[in-house]
Amino acid sequence: MANTATIEINGQKNEFPLYTGTENEVAIDISKLRGTTGGVTTIDPGYKNTGSCVSGITFLDGEKGILRYRGYSIEELAEKADFLEVAYLLIFGDLPTTAELDKFHADIKKHAVVDDDVKKILDAFPKSAHPMGVLSSLTSALTAFNPSSVNVESEEEMYNAIVRILGKFPILVAWTMRKKLGLPLYYGDSSLGYVENILKMMFKQPNEDKYTQNPILVNALDKLLILHADHEQNCSTSTVRIVGSSHAGLFASLSAGISALWGPLHGGANQAVLEMLEAIKEDGGDTKKYMGKAKDKADPFRLMGFGHRVYKNFDPRAKIIKVAADEVLGDLGVQDPILDIAKGLEKEALEDQYFVDRKLYPNVDFYSGIIYRAMGIPVDMFTVMFALGRLPGWIAQWREMRLRKEPIGRPRQVYIGENERAFKAIADR
Ligand code: ACO
Repeated sequence: MANTATIEINGQKNEFPLYTGTENEVAIDISKLRGTTGGVTTIDPGYKNTGSCVSGITFLDGEKGILRYRGYSIEELAEKADFLEVAYLLIFGDLPTTAELDKFHADIKKHAVVDDDVKKILDAFPKSAHPMGVLSSLTSALTAFNPSSVNVESEEEMYNAIVRILGKFPILVAWTMRKKLGLPLYYGDSSLGYVENILKMMFKQPNEDKYTQNPILVNALDKLLILHADHEQNCSTSTVRIVGSSHAGLFASLSAGISALWGPLHGGANQAVLEMLEAIKEDGGDTKKYMGKAKDKADPFRLMGFGHRVYKNFDPRAKIIKVAADEVLGDLGVQDPILDIAKGLEKEALEDQYFVDRKLYPNVDFYSGIIYRAMGIPVDMFTVMFALGRLPGWIAQWREMRLRKEPIGRPRQVYIGENERAFKAIADR
């Protein structure tokens, strides 16, 4: 295969190098396009065909339904690894040894505390505040209590910032939920595993002397967090990278990522899916009616949890989560009619020509909310749980971007507004 691409503009041929990744993905390197073509640029709304960076973290092949973190398949990691191991793998590039993992966890635990003034900020939010808004604000607020920006030239400073946020973030997540539920805030238990501690911080009741871990919940949350841990250059991750590219700090970049994740077309879909399934149930369970609405171009309704920018065959995470939903609900002895509605909708959609033609399949969020609900997590906390899982991915991508010394993100545009015109005084308009 040729290693250049030719773009002909007004009869002038311009050659551009081809860039080939380790999985043989090919990209045209247009970084010199404007210089060689006298200012011509590209337009690609939604960046559907634009590679913003090269990255060694996550590989996904949307046609084949492949997802790998640092070369390991998501299926294998979801089955054999735990969340903290996966976090280490994503951030530092290799699976940790026992000693490395123990040190990593010990260092995280040292930072599992937040300044008491953060409680005051949390208290100032109305009870009705959406947990994603609260989480994004509190993450940003952490910069006030940890003001020094990271010197990315120093491995030690970089490492310290990483363990600090991994220690503090679960507290913010748990407190956001406890505030919502009117429960007293609680710091957690350093004798526990990372995920066990998160569950205890979220669910320990004031009248309980001893919180008893339910291994079904620990395993379910571990798996969900692993499945959400990274997904290369999606909306929130690109946001983290682009904010970080201005050399804003790690916490500020993460806070922006949380806001990007919030929307219903991205991480907010898990909440939207459950609300949609509830609405269908309340409306008598007529899935055909909602299929019709989803296909009607005059109706803004979309089948939430369906479709994906890159997966055009199946989302491997959705496959794992569908099995997990059955297992978790079975193990907990929960019978949820919503699960049946979800399965019915999936079956109909997979057989429907509209969905087949557009290659629309259930995505990671279609079944995750059903598991979160069975675990006792409020619906508007679902996207917060997604953020908790995505944290190591955002950190890994931010770290990679800074270590590679990437330039500030600053796309071009093509202007389509008014040409220059003379100002008219208000009386003459
Ligand atoms: N229901 C009905 N029709 C859909 C859906 C859906 N969920 N998703 C896409 N389509 C249709 C579009 O109307 C469009 O049809 P057309 O070609 O006739 O105009 C076609 O499929 C392509 O859709 P686009 O919106 O162009 O695809 P895009 O890649 O821009 O969007 C997205 C992907 C945002 C995920 C979209 O499928 C969607 O809105 N899904 C529902 C929300 C959702 O589940 N988001 C979570 C994604 S996973 C994640 O972020 C963690």
